[in-house]
Amino acid sequence: MAPSALTPTTEDYSYEAIISKDISLGGVVDHGVSKAKELIGHALKSRVETIDQNTCEAGEEDAFFVADLGEVYRQHLRWKKNLARVKPHYAVKCNPDPQVLRLLNELGCGYDCASKAEIDQILEMGVDPSRVIYAQPCKTKSHLRHAALKGVKQMTFDNIDELYKIKQISPDAELFLRIHTDDSGSLVRLSQKYGASLDTTAELLELAKKLGLNVVGVAFHIGSGATDPKAFLKACQDARFVIDQAAVYGFEIHTVDVGGGFTGDKTFEPFSAVLAAALEVYIPPHIRVIGEPGRYYVGTAFTIACSVIARRTVTDATLGTTSYMLYLNDGVYGNFSSIMYDHQHPVPMVLKAGNDIKYDVRRSGYDTPSMIEYSIWGPTCDGLDHINSSVMFPEILDVGDWLYFEDMGAYTKASATRFNGFTNSHEVIYICSEPGASALLGF
Ligand SMILES: Cc1ncc(COP(=O)(O)O)c(C=O)c1O
Repeated sequence: MAPSALTPTTEDYSYEAIISKDISLGGVVDHGVSKAKELIGHALKSRVETIDQNTCEAGEEDAFFVADLGEVYRQHLRWKKNLARVKPHYAVKCNPDPQVLRLLNELGCGYDCASKAEIDQILEMGVDPSRVIYAQPCKTKSHLRHAALKGVKQMTFDNIDELYKIKQISPDAELFLRIHTDDSGSLVRLSQKYGASLDTTAELLELAKKLGLNVVGVAFHIGSGATDPKAFLKACQDARFVIDQAAVYGFEIHTVDVGGGFTGDKTFEPFSAVLAAALEVYIPPHIRVIGEPGRYYVGTAFTIACSVIARRTVTDATLGTTSYMLYLNDGVYGNFSSIMYDHQHPVPMVLKAGNDIKYDVRRSGYDTPSMIEYSIWGPTCDGLDHINSSVMFPEILDVGDWLYFEDMGAYTKASATRFNGFTNSHEVIYICSEPGASALLGF
């Protein structure tokens, strides 16, 4: 049945109608921000006050994270409140932090894994393989063998060659046909690499049938860091088209996987409202719905602190100005990989200047007439290792001072390298601003 033949509904589910509704932005869950700030500030302060760059061992002054597991917990509650029908399968690739994974396990989430190592990390926590989806349409044969051996059956595919591979290695897999989406409004586009277009799905279903494979789901991803919730309407409509098409080939689709793309900021409520409405219109109620959120869960939960390892004074004789280049001990080859791979613009803030802790002061009237301009650089010898080209602070910062950056949980440490011999393993100090999460984790 084509989407146009769906049962009419009296509700107006057009995009315009949905976003014109009184959607609560952020007031949905008490964000416990002040408690979190207090705990994060305390953790940052306690750590940096123990370090003296003049006497410390090599690496003692390394960048470190403070992770608020309470924030992950709040995001989960917010998800449940807004997308009750969608069971989250956390995208491990986004940040495979062991405590985050453990908390999400306690909360009953599933997991989206894309490789053998991710699958092993999840199964080693005692998670049942049925809670894992191997959401990688182009799998490495040996990883697929491993997944089959470990009992991971749910997996995505989007092309003919992959079907032959699956037939050979994992013939009793539970297959999700990943379809192409319009991800042009997203930060990181995925559909130029993955997803079958609707004019190829019949051929894929026909081959799957011929090979005796079992197609049970339809999957899509509207692109990571999506900005246009309308993409969900079209994707759900297309998913319904494939559900009906699959029935023609004798497949009973029982799950739709709506992927990721959500951000943890105030866009989440309007995004989820559009998705929930689209599911209601296009996806029959007996069909299970799962999602693969990554960034949404962890983006805001991690703060990183970096120390100033070097400074260069830049004087402009013509203008009569002095500015500074600050070199930090972390950069785009490390945890700021998100600048390159995830198009992020991390915002530097002063943590420690001389003997003064400055955490969170920027929020309360930080601007003064005599601001000093800084550019911020990473520690490697590559000119690309550049974090921020112009930021103003009132303090004169020097070697041994510290900066911090919020919202550093998504696609940061997961893609850090050891380029130039710098470490990609940084300490994480865990705090928990929600008693519910503390109880679950035994903190
Ligand atoms: C298949 C798949 N699922 C889920 C995700 C997570 O996306 P996000 O972090 O936007 O939620 C990604 C990100 O690349 C992905 O490729």
